[in-house]
Formats: sequence, C-alpha cells, structure tokens
Amino acid sequence: MYLQSLHIKQFRNYIDQEVAFTAPKTVIVGNNAQGKSNLLEAVLLLATLRSHRVSKDRDLVRNGESVGEIRAICQRSRSVESYPVELLMRMRVSGKRTLNVNGVNQAKHLDFLGNLNTVMFSSLDLDLVRGSPESRRNWLDTVLIQLEPIYINLLQQYNQVLRQRNALLKSIKQGVIQYEPQQMALWDAQLVTAGTRLIRRRSRLLERLIPIARNWHQAISGGGEYLEITYVPKFAFTSMQAVEVVQQNFFEAILQKTIIEQHQGTSLVGPHRDEVLLTINDTPAREYGSQGQQRTLVLALKLAELELLESVIGEPPILLLDDVLAELDLQRQDHLLNAIGDRVQTIITTTHLGSFDAQWLDSARIFQVEKGEIVS
Ligand SMILES: Nc1ncnc2c1ncn2[C@@H]1O[C@H](COP(=O)(O)OP(=O)(O)O)[C@@H](O)[C@H]1O
Ligand SMILES: [Mg+2]
Repeated sequence: MYLQSLHIKQFRNYIDQEVAFTAPKTVIVGNNAQGKSNLLEAVLLLATLRSHRVSKDRDLVRNGESVGEIRAICQRSRSVESYPVELLMRMRVSGKRTLNVNGVNQAKHLDFLGNLNTVMFSSLDLDLVRGSPESRRNWLDTVLIQLEPIYINLLQQYNQVLRQRNALLKSIKQGVIQYEPQQMALWDAQLVTAGTRLIRRRSRLLERLIPIARNWHQAISGGGEYLEITYVPKFAFTSMQAVEVVQQNFFEAILQKTIIEQHQGTSLVGPHRDEVLLTINDTPAREYGSQGQQRTLVLALKLAELELLESVIGEPPILLLDDVLAELDLQRQDHLLNAIGDRVQTIITTTHLGSFDAQWLDSARIFQVEKGEIVS
C-alpha cells in the first residue's frame, strides 16, 4: 500500500495544502496545535470514513467554511501491474458527504472503502487499556471496516435500529406513547438480528488478533506475561455458539431488562454496550502493572492489527504514528521500528526530532508544519 500524495482543502485548520510522500517514512514536525494530527486524521478518514476524534463532519470542515475536501492518490502495491487510484472525499457542515474514486461518484461507502488501508497509533490509544469500553469497541470497528468493508453497512443498520428503538423507549418513558409489547417485540427482533452480526464479527476478529498480539506482547515484555482478550456482551456468550443460540440469549437478556429500559428510556443490551476484556495474568490490564507495561500492551495490539491487515490484504497498510514514538522507551521504539522496516510506509508526527534514531531519520522525508501550512 502506497500513499503518493494528499491534497486537503478547507479541512480542519488547513486552507489548501498538498503533500507528496516521496520516501517510505515521512516525519511531520511542529509545535502543538499546528495541524500535525489533522493531517493523519485526513488519511485515516479515507481509509475508514471515520475519524478517531470526532463523529460530526461539521468539526472536520474548516471553521467558517461549508465544504471541506480530502483528496489522495494511492497505489495498492509498487508493482507495475498496480495503477494509482484517486480518492476524493468531500464533507459538508450539513453532514452530507460525497465520495469519489477516479472521478466517479460512489453512492455506497462500501465501494469507496478498501482502496487505502491504515493503522493509526496515537496517544489516544492508551485509552484502549485505561479508557471506557467505547474506545475498545471503536478500535474493533475500525479494524473490521478495513478487513471486511461490508461491516460498515452492518454497523449502519444496527445504529439505525438502535436509534429508532431508543426513540421509542424515550417516548414511552416520557409518557408520550404507551408500551405495546407487540410493537416492541418487532424492534427487539431487529435489534437482535442486526446486533448479533456485529457481535459475531467482533468476536471472530478478536480470535484472529489474539495469537498475534500475544506473540508481540511476549516479545516486547520479555515473556512471563499472559495476555487474554475476550469479547463480553451483556449475556452469556462464546464464539462457538450457533447464531440461533446467540440470538436467543440476546433476546432473553433484552426481555429481562424490559422494565428498566422503559424506566431509563434507552436500550441497555446490545453491541453498543459490549465490553472487550483485556487481562494480563488473569488481572484486568487497566489494574495491571505500570504505565510502561500498559504501553507495551497497546503497542502489541497495534502491531497485531498491522500484521493481521497485512496478511489479509496482502500488502502492508500505511502506519500513522501520531505523537507516540517519543512516548515509547528505546526498547519499545526498536520493536516498533524493526517491525516496520522499510516495508511499511509510515507517517509520523512529533514535536521534536531529538528522540529519534539518527540512522532512521536519514531515510525519512521531514516536513515542518505551522498553523495549518507545511512551511518546509
Ligand atoms: N474545523 C476546524 N477549523 C479550523 N481550525 C481547526 C478545526 N479543527 C481543529 N482546528 C485547529 O487545529 C489545531 C489542532 O490541530 P492538530 O492537528 O490537532 O494539532 P497538533 O499539531 O498538535 O497535532 C488547533 O489549532 C485547532 O484550533
Ligand atoms: Mg496532535
């Protein structure tokens, strides 16, 4: 996977900026709040159609403008049979997006995805261990969207059912409408059908990630620590269960919450509430060890993501390292840099070059960013 160039207009704090990625490694240097993360966010958006920082397009469009644009030229591999593809995403304050591949509008997200694959590793990722379950669910969703683009449709379908069911529960709570068991049963059935798809895909993804993450984790920590990752819905679940069994258990869990859901006016069971349990030596990872050990775990998870995407897609994805290299000690930096080699195109942001290996910088193209502009 090779990103040749990026052209962003009225995106975040940029007005009109082109960047050519001429080396396998690009380093973006700049002080805080100059636009380093914004640049990586633009690349991530093309790969996943999601931002890791916000959920509304109005935050992505430059303040005071109505339309923002991200354009990129990328290539699946560097072999001669592979042609460059031009991707264009327009986002509007109104929320309406336009997606375009090689000059042709794409009505479906599904047809846009899969042209560019990335792994983002940012300081926000420490939340994977210490933060709320939402950050872990988002992580799985971002990987799944790239591994199986159809997943973005499944996610949209679920979210739509969830929104409508929540609206109904809220109206019941407010006394606007009366609880009708038969009407609710229809929504329950849809929630269970759409939700079970997400649950099963997320748990299958974890099963593929676990052995790879465990290898990395043992290599970086020097062994002696046993990592376990488990997908935990709000009902008894194993990945071995037949789909009908999962649906039945999901359904029963909803029934048990009938009264409390009406009282709270929201859906309490489903993949929007699930947890991903990370444990090391049988202790929840957030309670285990030092911050350094938690960083090791996040690094292992990210390297597993990279390796899995590469093996499925057949090409290494683009690695986006947002402000994390300086946070890793030299030993962890080494693991990361060795894993990347020259194979993986990498874009790195940093506030200072001091903590970088000199030999490593030799092969990198360095850009300086200031107030939403690349100045050198
Ligand atoms: N929609 C927007 N319009 C204009 N400026 C924005 C917008 N969103 C973010 N910014 C600005 O972008 C800057 C932060 O950029 P960021 O890439 O996160 O910085 P850093 O270089 O620290 O990674 C801040 O100055 C912020 O005000
Ligand atoms: Mg930043």
